[in-house]
Amino acid sequence: MRNGLLSGGDIYNLLINWPKRLSTEIPFLTDIIQDRLSIKSALLSIGCGTGQHLFELQNHYDCSITGLDIDESMIEKAKQRASTIKFIVADFLDNDTLRNTKFDVIFSLGNSIGLIASASGSYDQVVKKLGSHLTSTSILIFQILNTVKERNNWSAPRQVRTKSGEYVFLRGFTTTKRFIHPEIITLFRTNEEEEFQLKTTGKANIPRISVEEMTLLLQQADFTNIRVYGDYNKGPFNADSSSDMIFIAER
Ligand SMILES: C[S@@+](CC[C@H](N)C(=O)[O-])C[C@H]1O[C@@H](n2cnc3c(N)ncnc32)[C@H](O)[C@@H]1O
Repeated sequence: MRNGLLSGGDIYNLLINWPKRLSTEIPFLTDIIQDRLSIKSALLSIGCGTGQHLFELQNHYDCSITGLDIDESMIEKAKQRASTIKFIVADFLDNDTLRNTKFDVIFSLGNSIGLIASASGSYDQVVKKLGSHLTSTSILIFQILNTVKERNNWSAPRQVRTKSGEYVFLRGFTTTKRFIHPEIITLFRTNEEEEFQLKTTGKANIPRISVEEMTLLLQQADFTNIRVYGDYNKGPFNADSSSDMIFIAER
């Protein structure tokens, strides 16, 4: 099942500049996680996509590692790479998903929590379910877009050449009162073609939330020691200028 914004694992891997993202996001994660994970521990990534973060983290930790995503094609792509990581196709909000399993570290990057919340239009259910999978010594790390900031713009196109042809990705945002709407347009031409064809378009509704509102939801779900950063260099969150809201919370 697709969430409407993305176009599957193969295209997602081309869309993202992985070396750039992983070069800041992995040091951030390992710095927060530090020595919390032993061989008996369990780590979960929610909305893991094609599992890129998990493949890096398995070099740092010898604990049990699970990646969960609703999109079969993301998980298929992840499974093409040899690893001992357990990949699951499931809707995180489904009550049967993970049942009562607890994790020592749960993380979710790439705005997955925003996309999961888009189904109901609110973060309440997501935060409650996150809490149900953590113990009193666990840690939660998640990033969503800074949804306070209005976004009405398109980034410079990203061009990617593959053996079969050339992709152009256009990524933009519009903002309404309750939602941020990310949009992705994918164009493609084969090596023989001069003109591009429209390959996919996708749009999503990410519910807008302030840091204060998210902090309250986390507190109501018994999270403590809640911190928020505005970027992966641990810069302070600024509602007007930060690109991200990155929450760390404990129980
Ligand atoms: C933008 S991608 C982020 C992937 C990866 N975490 C990253 O950092 O690049 C968001 C992912 O969330 C997944 N997702 C959306 N709704 C979900 C749900 N209800 N349960 C599990 N995964 C979901 C999508 O399928 C998609 O792979």
